[in-house]
Amino acid sequence: MSFKGSVIWITGASSGIGAALARALAADGPKLVLSGRQVDALRRVAQQTGLPGEDVMILPFDITDADARAATVDQMQTRFGRIDLLVNNAGISQRARVLDTEMDTLRTLMEVDFFAQVALTRAVLPLMLAQGGGHVAVTASVSGKLGSQGRAGYCAAKHALMGWFDALRAEHARDRIRVTTIVPGYIDTPIAYAALTGDGSAHAKPSKGNARGMDVDACAQRIAQGLRRRRREIAVGKGLEMHALWLKRWFPGLLFRLVERLPG
Ligand SMILES: NC(=O)c1ccc[n+]([C@@H]2O[C@H](COP(=O)([O-])OP(=O)(O)OC[C@H]3O[C@@H](n4cnc5c(N)ncnc54)[C@H](OP(=O)(O)O)[C@@H]3O)[C@@H](O)[C@H]2O)c1
Repeated sequence: MSFKGSVIWITGASSGIGAALARALAADGPKLVLSGRQVDALRRVAQQTGLPGEDVMILPFDITDADARAATVDQMQTRFGRIDLLVNNAGISQRARVLDTEMDTLRTLMEVDFFAQVALTRAVLPLMLAQGGGHVAVTASVSGKLGSQGRAGYCAAKHALMGWFDALRAEHARDRIRVTTIVPGYIDTPIAYAALTGDGSAHAKPSKGNARGMDVDACAQRIAQGLRRRRREIAVGKGLEMHALWLKRWFPGLLFRLVERLPG
């Protein structure tokens, strides 16, 4: 089903997967709400969508700020009056082993990658229920299905997302609330730069894994197609990590042994 005329709100739209998804979904002719903290980057993405100015709203805010979250929901509602699809895509990665990761850093990861996504969804859900239905998506990760080295906090947050959004789907299926969990493998985005090291500072380096990953626009096209089809889960990626999804289900012992041998 096309999103023509639908109101779509994408968080993490200033970069990477969110920006590419904005460009991909723009082909349908929706009304787009783009969020992130970097206003100039959001403006660039708005231009890249090619949509008329009145159909794109830039709504910058820090997703961990509860007051800002509430204000943006109000602003979005005032401008467009409804919301058909919320894509909870903002996120931050990690580059530090368990014992090197301070508890405050772990809490930041959980705040950005889990609690903020849940809070925004809870703020939008009453609007969707009042209008008779809606669609909520969240960008989880293969790291939401499998734990690996140097990412314990990120993996924990992404596993939590998978559980919470699966439960949301089950709870509200009869209210015509559709829920999509997006499960990317390595995608070629700058995600590693903002990834948190143990003390909470930015990793500030590129990642070979991401550089070898799937092209971000190809990834966004796959996600857009899955969203149009109202898929419950969209797995997207091109590397060996995608095999982890079926190995975890059918041969978990083998997968655990393979992951233990990875460097890091
Ligand atoms: N790239 C991959 O290989 C990969 C794989 C699996 C899952 N994912 C997930 O995909 C999503 C997008 O990641 P990406 O690869 O596109 O990375 P990215 O290019 O670094 O984009 C991350 C986005 O999240 C936003 N963001 C981060 N912290 C925020 C905050 N506190 N408040 C508001 N916005 C915030 C950033 O916006 P501002 O900087 O403007 O605030 C940016 O738009 C994330 O949830 C990530 O975990 C990525």
